[in-house]
Amino acid sequence: MELLKKLALCTSPSGREDGIREIIKEEVKECFDEIYTDALGNLICHKKGNGKKLMLCAHMDEIGFVVTYIDNSGFLRFGNVGGILAYNSINSRVVFENGTVGTISYENKENPSNINLSKMYIDIGATSREDAEKKVKIGDMAVYHSQFYENGNRAISKALDDRAGCAILIEAVKKAEKSANDLFVVFTSQEEVGLRGAKVASNSVEPDMAVSVDVSNVGDTPASLELNLKLGEGPAVKMKDSSYIIHPSARRYMLDCAKNANIKFQLEASSYGGTDTGAIHLSGNGVPAGTISIPTRYIHSANEVIDIADYKASVELVKTVIETSAEEYLQA
Ligand code: CO
Ligand code: ZN
Repeated sequence: MELLKKLALCTSPSGREDGIREIIKEEVKECFDEIYTDALGNLICHKKGNGKKLMLCAHMDEIGFVVTYIDNSGFLRFGNVGGILAYNSINSRVVFENGTVGTISYENKENPSNINLSKMYIDIGATSREDAEKKVKIGDMAVYHSQFYENGNRAISKALDDRAGCAILIEAVKKAEKSANDLFVVFTSQEEVGLRGAKVASNSVEPDMAVSVDVSNVGDTPASLELNLKLGEGPAVKMKDSSYIIHPSARRYMLDCAKNANIKFQLEASSYGGTDTGAIHLSGNGVPAGTISIPTRYIHSANEVIDIADYKASVELVKTVIETSAEEYLQA
């Protein structure tokens, strides 16, 4: 889990992917024929091969907080970078890219159950505006300040969404015995603010088939929503979310890969959420595309939880996708 830990703890919110991109580039530099970064900050890794263009992706960015105003006492007002939930943030620690740490609180005349981000602030321990401005400027971004913990069964950290997906892609590329397609592995930028990196990357790669790897909510905690996914039952092949419906060719390809990988897997159909697949399938003339979901608890908090067996099974599934030609599935 060392790779996952290193990726998860890197501070790289949307639009500030430089740090995580350098770590990933270093990890995969021996695995591809060419690696380049596009104008939106996507890391595009190409392993030349015969057959159809297969694009696999996971997003590198994470949700965060952006400083919008500094008051005379040195408290920072902030906006969201992606899907920040107010109730997950009160009394959470955050860390800025330069290492400055703060804690989030709220105007305590308000009932905390009705709170929104406009009533909240970050306290970085500054004594005045001038003091705060020595550490933080307008537009600077922070992320949840978290530790990584694992006990052999489960891992807990910030940003498993979607550094788990990034780590799974890296491990699968290294384990694959052959590549049965013209393979593009893309670590995308700015997913959390609206699938922006994937939109640009898929327009330049022009894939024939695409598969994203991202996290999905589970229904296995006390009195939770009735969702089909459970931790420990394997990765899911996602049939639908609010951003796309799986293409029949992608469905047959992915379900065959899941069966041939000799792993437990689940089926998912959700009315919520979105992933890079939502942007990719609408690019160019349209792209058959699907998603591998990593079952995850407490998504978009400082303490997301995944199952380590699910993580390992996801590596096997992505490895099988890499080793399986997409071509015959596209013809039928
Ligand atoms: Co997310
Ligand atoms: Zn995600």
